[in-house]
Amino acid sequence: MKILVTGGAGFIGSNFIFYIEKKHPEYELVCLDKLTYAGNLATLAPMMDRLNFKFIRGDIADQEAVFDIFETEKPDVVVNFAAESHVDRSIEAPGIFLQTNVIGTQVLLDACRSYGIQRYHQVSTDEVYGDLPLDRPDLFFTEQTPLHTSSPYSASKASADLLCNAYQRTYGLPITISRCSNNYGPYQFPEKLIPLMIANALADKPLPVYGEGLNVRDWLYVEDHCAAIDLILESGQAGQVYNIGGHNEMKNIDIVKLICKALDKPERLITYVTDRKGHDMRYAIDPTFIHEKLGWLPETKFEAGIQRTIQWYLDNQDWWTEIVNGEYQSYYERMYGNR
Ligand code: NAD
Ligand code: DAU
Repeated sequence: MKILVTGGAGFIGSNFIFYIEKKHPEYELVCLDKLTYAGNLATLAPMMDRLNFKFIRGDIADQEAVFDIFETEKPDVVVNFAAESHVDRSIEAPGIFLQTNVIGTQVLLDACRSYGIQRYHQVSTDEVYGDLPLDRPDLFFTEQTPLHTSSPYSASKASADLLCNAYQRTYGLPITISRCSNNYGPYQFPEKLIPLMIANALADKPLPVYGEGLNVRDWLYVEDHCAAIDLILESGQAGQVYNIGGHNEMKNIDIVKLICKALDKPERLITYVTDRKGHDMRYAIDPTFIHEKLGWLPETKFEAGIQRTIQWYLDNQDWWTEIVNGEYQSYYERMYGNR
């Protein structure tokens, strides 16, 4: 089986490539990534000399390039991780979110329609459901929860989901969609809550908590997300949406305090800053469907996963300081310049 993994130089995509390489060494993997600020080829260095792996730098919204890749690579399966993924950036500049997340998805779907595909899997997010109130802990997102987005990011992801549904129904494309809660783990870009707080705490810099820090997110270790997608590819039903989450709700402020404690840093570093515009209050996934249909359950307990993650950032400071300094672009030139 040959899988085209888009966005495989980012956080979840790279973890997915490592997961698949280990679990299914017989699969062929082609990674298509634009290497935006969030993509880092250094992450994929261990894959570069594998015979079953190929990296292609390109934009999923570039129809000619994508069609060329389908023509030459003939993938059996596409897993689309490629996206602009940071809510704050979408508030600042929505345009690129529509271009990559919506038009990019449309181009991939059109390529699948033209060249044929066994499965197209869209990696979506729980943010398409909007948010839940803090005073209703009995409410959860199910696959039937209506789409109700808050940010330009979540609106772009919901639009892509709707396009997937349209291509499934209109053209009969075999599409699955997964909507996962917040991931954490190795290789997450240091703009996101957990790695940002780790990096700042290590540098004794202020830890900027939005609003009062009472917003709740439902954290899942990234490898559990990868395992769920693998299962959906193997046994999921075309046309189906699968929610992925592990009933691990935590307030932001509790996460930040936990990071301070783990790194032996004082809580006085915590600084409350102006809230994110339109800030979603609570996300909470009901994962009953994927559990009952595919037998998926998260394996990593938060206490173990967060310690492993913090340790990873301690052990891999070169990885994230290089990113922060913008050095990953010159890494690309070094790696490919003379090939
Ligand atoms: P990320 O920002 O770390 O990585 C995105 C990757 O996509 C980068 O490698 C980037 O270079 C690439 N990319 C961006 N635009 C591209 C384009 N036009 N063409 C080709 N490649 C492009 O994101 P992530 O956190 O790994 O998220 C991956 C996917 O999972 C996204 O679709 C996101 O919406 C979804 N998701 C993320 C989370 C989370 O907690 N991080 C949770 C649920 C769903
Ligand atoms: O729920 C899935 C989504 O999770 C994914 O679809 C997104 O791609 C991913 O970025 C993530 O979105 P969030 O907005 O929830 O993640 P982020 O890490 O940006 O923020 C988590 C919470 O922490 C949120 O309530 C905002 C808050 N926050 C974030 C940052 C970066 C802070 O308080 N301070 C910060 O500096």
